[in-house]
Amino acid sequence: MHSDSEEEGQGSTSNANGPSPKKKRKINGVVVVNGANGRALSNGTSNDIKLHRTQLPIWTGKAALVSAVKNNDTVVVLGETGSGKTTQLPQFLHEAGLTRDGIIAVTQPRRVAAISLAARVALEQGTPLGQLVGYNVRFDEHTTRNTRIKFCTDGMLVRELLIDSDLDRYSVVVVDEAHERTLRTDMLLGSLKRIQRERKTGEKRDRDGKKMKPLKVVVMSATLDAERFSAFFNRCPVLYISGRQHPVQICHSKTPVEDFQDAALRTFLQLHLDHPPGDVLVFLPGQDDIESLAKSIRAYIPQVPPSQQKVLVLPLYGALPPEQQKKIFDPPPAGTRKVVLATNIAETSITIPGIRYVIDTGLCKERSYHTRHGGSGLDELLVKPISKSSAQQRSGRAGREAPGTCFRLYTEQSYNQLTNAPTPEIQRCDLNSAILDLKCLGEDPMEFAYMDRPLDDSIRGSLITLYALQALDSQGRLTRLGRRLASFPLEPALSLVVLSSQSRACTAEILDIVSLLTCTAKLFIDNADTREAAADARKKFQHRDGDHLTLLNIFRSFEDVLSSNLSAASSQANGGPAHTGSRRAAREWCKAHFLNEKALNEATTIRTQLRGNCEREKIDWKVSCGDDAEPVLRCLLDGLFRKSAIKAPDGTYRQIGMQQVLKIHPSSSLVDRKPPTIIFDELLITSAVYARGVSAVHSSWLIDTPLLNSNARGNTTAPYTNGHT
Ligand code: CDP
Ligand code: MG
Repeated sequence: MHSDSEEEGQGSTSNANGPSPKKKRKINGVVVVNGANGRALSNGTSNDIKLHRTQLPIWTGKAALVSAVKNNDTVVVLGETGSGKTTQLPQFLHEAGLTRDGIIAVTQPRRVAAISLAARVALEQGTPLGQLVGYNVRFDEHTTRNTRIKFCTDGMLVRELLIDSDLDRYSVVVVDEAHERTLRTDMLLGSLKRIQRERKTGEKRDRDGKKMKPLKVVVMSATLDAERFSAFFNRCPVLYISGRQHPVQICHSKTPVEDFQDAALRTFLQLHLDHPPGDVLVFLPGQDDIESLAKSIRAYIPQVPPSQQKVLVLPLYGALPPEQQKKIFDPPPAGTRKVVLATNIAETSITIPGIRYVIDTGLCKERSYHTRHGGSGLDELLVKPISKSSAQQRSGRAGREAPGTCFRLYTEQSYNQLTNAPTPEIQRCDLNSAILDLKCLGEDPMEFAYMDRPLDDSIRGSLITLYALQALDSQGRLTRLGRRLASFPLEPALSLVVLSSQSRACTAEILDIVSLLTCTAKLFIDNADTREAAADARKKFQHRDGDHLTLLNIFRSFEDVLSSNLSAASSQANGGPAHTGSRRAAREWCKAHFLNEKALNEATTIRTQLRGNCEREKIDWKVSCGDDAEPVLRCLLDGLFRKSAIKAPDGTYRQIGMQQVLKIHPSSSLVDRKPPTIIFDELLITSAVYARGVSAVHSSWLIDTPLLNSNARGNTTAPYTNGHT
């Protein structure tokens, strides 16, 4: 299937607006770092580690980098994936004394990357993780007072800004993977610019009234957008790290691919039969695709001739537990070909050793938001074609250690039609929590220093939503409630659900439900073959009022299994450890009900953190309403009232305030019952607009919602007539 090919090595990733990594360059009068060859990593002794470090391309540029950071407020560092930026630069700065009066924060768009990088750097420093080197991601923190290098998600640092708007504790903030332009990265870039100015001019003083020390910012990127970052930070210097990239042969598919799963499977099997040893990296859009391809590869492998190498299939995606992620860094056993199935996490943020072949489906999942629905809940992960710059990054992964090959499961013509770079997330996602955060930071969302400004309509849409949630008053000022909403690591609507559970005396139930709604792993494991069996097995959890209370039933049954087996096992004198026994029982129970144990475990962790948040807000999270559904549903409505709908005579629904026509998704337990008034978690657009995660509410309860209760704060219905005004 792949016949046409081209050489795309060093050359094509360094195009007109970028440097040729082989040459020395001077840009804005700054040194270019020239590197040695990066080598595959060993996890071994401290000597091995030292050797590994000194062989990374960034190593020879150590002095230049340190002095550039010392002599400038902001520095942009550009270097190929794997050159050592993320793991080495923070150590260089630490070793050069830049942590003497402050911490170095290194932000990552993804939690998986933050954790695994912290672990790596701790290992390189020879210290236990969480001491000198720690991490902080949502729902999981490993730091101490002595932590000097802290890896965190960009979202966590934005949260810290809410508590400490000057980032007092930090001497350096490294914004890594800046090219990804996540929403939080963009918010950070704008905020960091403000903080630098305030610290410098002395506009703000520290707690003792002294002028604050300057905040150093390092922006790191793997693609060629350095000039834009430099322009944003008052034309700050750019440092290029020249890595070594081997040529990569690119093979495009000759005809358009209809089923990328099937094409990926065939391409892999063919490659495995015809090509010399070397590990394979397959880029797929999401976790489900990864799991299903892993299954097919495992099913087909026994059929290849026994003379062939063995195959080790390893998935890599955001929700994967850290112990499993670690496996991708280990060399495979002798005579085995490793095949890593990854999302775009492996594009730039995690470098996998040993890769010689890349199979690129050309797809990724992207969060998109539909402004025309006025923030109606249409914020969805959609499978989309990648950009040219992503395609180049992906193919580049095959040439890190030796010449490689990339199989693109799309035609050359499709490649040529790809956009150059991805659209920044801030221009395509729901801004509610971002705008609330900006308000808490005292910023004016209309005037904020955006690197790329979102549509005014999206900003206004979010302001209206926040006003409806009573987070803002009619003058657009932050309310006390607004500040409380922002203190939860949840979207504002769900924070409101949690807050209102206090007065409705059902916080225990609400935290269970909200934790399950928030977790990233999918709870229901369904595919076409098992759908019926799954529905049968799960029938007993079904609550007549809908999907939210069904979730509650599931969570509670899961915990019953855990705790009853715990007591059974501990009363058995010669049984194995109680914990293992109950874990095993829980696993079997999940399997029998087609539920994802990972999701339930994740929800348990989230709930622990939310309980902590509640304690800080003086909310007693133990308060329960027992089996009474009404308070729970009313709380959900308090927050989700913008996602409520009323049945029309034809059996479809009209979303309140938006007149959006929608139907109940077939996966909902209410699809047949069709109650007169519903609330829902999200909308899904396929052939029609479907509401998913649906519960029945009383029409009379709507009167109490801010949306219809115009007495509460003047006439609030006006802004809803057409989504935004
Ligand atoms: O940030 P950049 O892409 O420039 O490179 P890096 O993440 O600092 O990685 C440098 C080297 O460390 C690569 O060869 C990685 O394979 C290795 N590494 C690792 O073995 N384990 C990790 N958890 C992270 C990096
Ligand atoms: Mg990196």
